[in-house]
Amino acid sequence: MIDFAGRTAFVTGGANGVGIGLVRALLAEGCKVAIADIREDHIERAVKSLDNREVMGVQVNVSSREEMVRAADEVEAKFGPVTLLFNNAGVNLFQSVEDSSWSDWDWLMGVNLHGPINGCMTFVPRMIAHGKGGYVVNTASMAGWLASGSPGIYNTTKFAVRGLSESLRHSLAPKGIGVSCVCPGLVKSLIYASDDIRPDGLMADARPVDHENVKRLAGMHEVGMEPDVIAERILQGMRENQAYIFPMPDHKEELAEYFQEVLGDYRDYPEDQGYDERIRIEGLRRQSYKTAREAARKAT
Ligand SMILES: NC(=O)c1ccc[n+]([C@@H]2O[C@H](COP(=O)([O-])OP(=O)(O)OC[C@H]3O[C@@H](n4cnc5c(N)ncnc54)[C@H](O)[C@@H]3O)[C@@H](O)[C@H]2O)c1
Repeated sequence: MIDFAGRTAFVTGGANGVGIGLVRALLAEGCKVAIADIREDHIERAVKSLDNREVMGVQVNVSSREEMVRAADEVEAKFGPVTLLFNNAGVNLFQSVEDSSWSDWDWLMGVNLHGPINGCMTFVPRMIAHGKGGYVVNTASMAGWLASGSPGIYNTTKFAVRGLSESLRHSLAPKGIGVSCVCPGLVKSLIYASDDIRPDGLMADARPVDHENVKRLAGMHEVGMEPDVIAERILQGMRENQAYIFPMPDHKEELAEYFQEVLGDYRDYPEDQGYDERIRIEGLRRQSYKTAREAARKAT
């Protein structure tokens, strides 16, 4: 089971929402914690509110490889090797794919997908070299399972975060590093205000912000789950080394319904040429995947 006390944690998007919940929970476990966020004023406010010498702030845009490396160096110089990585920062645009522009894609893919990629590519080799195990938690979403016409780009990024997490989970298990993918539903957070932090360089073909819709979304997120509750459940999921951490029960039935619908798209075709040999190969692959999943669950 992962031990928290004394480890250094790096929490992206740590100044608000799920991130600040994680920061508080990790501090309570005796970790040193870096709040890595793009909003400098929110970092300052968070650090002040925590009043704890074991927390530091580091401003970073997670979409930038260079900034991620610089932030990692800064945190490790002060708090020692990071062995708990939370790729949590995320932004949303509530619109369909056909209503989106190239810069919308660049922004959301940059934060929601390249952010976790940059986090993993920066910290995982350091964790392996350090040799004391560790844990990576990637925040996806229920929008990483259930899609609708909107928000198209967000759905794309969150489905991809699941792929990243599952693959990494299998490759890192033998190295004593756990990986979980968190899939929250509605959270009490600031994500409805994502437009406020859209970088100037990605504004060219942005649609004007629909302030009425932002207001509506703010009201919806007000009834979301409290970040402190989610954070406790994430830490519990890490202790249990879960592949997926669903911090709220809200979507269990819907997911079962969805899986049934997906399976319903299979057809009983007649056996084609080469079927037997292909099935033999697939059988071997299937067994090896199953073994890897079991090994990952038992590891760390
Ligand atoms: N709010 C929800 O209902 C909900 C549901 C499912 C999943 N999630 C996911 O949870 C995660 C946390 O979001 P939240 O809901 O707590 O939102 P939030 O807006 O309250 O917090 C996200 C934080 O990420 C920071 N951030 C944004 N872009 C950044 C960047 N480029 N570099 C560094 N930091 C950046 C923001 O400043 C903010 O502090 C996200 O990945 C989000 O997609 C949220």
